[in-house]
Amino acid sequence: MTVIGLGPMGQAMVRAFLDAGVRVTVWNRTAARADAVVELGAERAATVAEALDANEVIVLSLTHYAAMYDVLGQAEGRLSGKVVVNASSDSPADTRAGAAWVRERGGRFLAAGVMAQPEGLALPASYIFYSGPREVFEEHRELLGLLASHEYLGDDDGLAQLYYQAVYAAFLPWFLGIEQAFAMIDQAGDDIGRFLPFAQRAMHDAEDFYAAMASAARAGGWGDLGNLRMMAAGAAHVVETGDDLGVDTSLLRSARAIWDRALAESERAGEPVPTYQLLRGAVE
Ligand SMILES: NC(=O)c1ccc[n+]([C@@H]2O[C@H](COP(=O)([O-])OP(=O)(O)OC[C@H]3O[C@@H](n4cnc5c(N)ncnc54)[C@H](OP(=O)(O)O)[C@@H]3O)[C@@H](O)[C@H]2O)c1
Repeated sequence: MTVIGLGPMGQAMVRAFLDAGVRVTVWNRTAARADAVVELGAERAATVAEALDANEVIVLSLTHYAAMYDVLGQAEGRLSGKVVVNASSDSPADTRAGAAWVRERGGRFLAAGVMAQPEGLALPASYIFYSGPREVFEEHRELLGLLASHEYLGDDDGLAQLYYQAVYAAFLPWFLGIEQAFAMIDQAGDDIGRFLPFAQRAMHDAEDFYAAMASAARAGGWGDLGNLRMMAAGAAHVVETGDDLGVDTSLLRSARAIWDRALAESERAGEPVPTYQLLRGAVE
């Protein structure tokens, strides 16, 4: 097994393979970043060519797909017969282009989307999305399973990153949303710890909420005109409260703008236009 790219995630992957007794060869652009895993038993390749020659399976953990060209471009003649598992995050389109690039050079390819923090790779909650040719995944599923459990999504190379990015799309506003709430409490001079149980209480029904929203989305989206009016008014009140407290309300304003637009579109259309229709780009 070769691992190229030794940021926090690449190093965690190397440790997982070493812990499972797998021999690992490593290469990183900044050579000193390999020191810690070499100390644990990984073998340092002096060049990308050496790293590719050392093993059949090459895991990439790089910042983006552009880095893959920079790295593998140094030894592209050595890719024939290799299995490149790119665990870097990027758009599905860049992933598909990267897969084609590897195949044009005789390599085989799998895309991976790592749903974990580096320090939590071994935790049961961690998993990795894979996409690409099923036979390549099946041949290597046991080895890849040493990193974390896997979710194989299908032949389309872009799927692992589509699912990864979609999970992220749900996560980003949620992450900022709780910080926004804490900022409001804090700026009001109250105690974040006193508020916390109420924020947590709102999370208890998250699974049911997601399921209900999925049903609504499949049916065109949530909300009749009354619901949309209520949400738009509620969003306006949150923005007003945030402004009064002096917190940054840019996130809340974005949310408010979506409900305001849904309401305006509904009034124009004479029927409810749910926010889901706006978010999926179905309204001009
Ligand atoms: N960290 C996380 O929590 C996490 C979670 C899930 C997924 N991921 C994904 O996993 C990937 C790696 O994450 P990370 O946190 O380990 O990232 P990172 O710290 O940014 O490490 C990136 C690696 O990419 C290399 N690199 C970047 N540009 C390069 C270039 N042009 N040529 C050669 N090497 C280049 C860096 O080399 P140098 O050392 O020389 O700079 C480093 O080894 C990313 O795509 C990230 O989105 C990360």
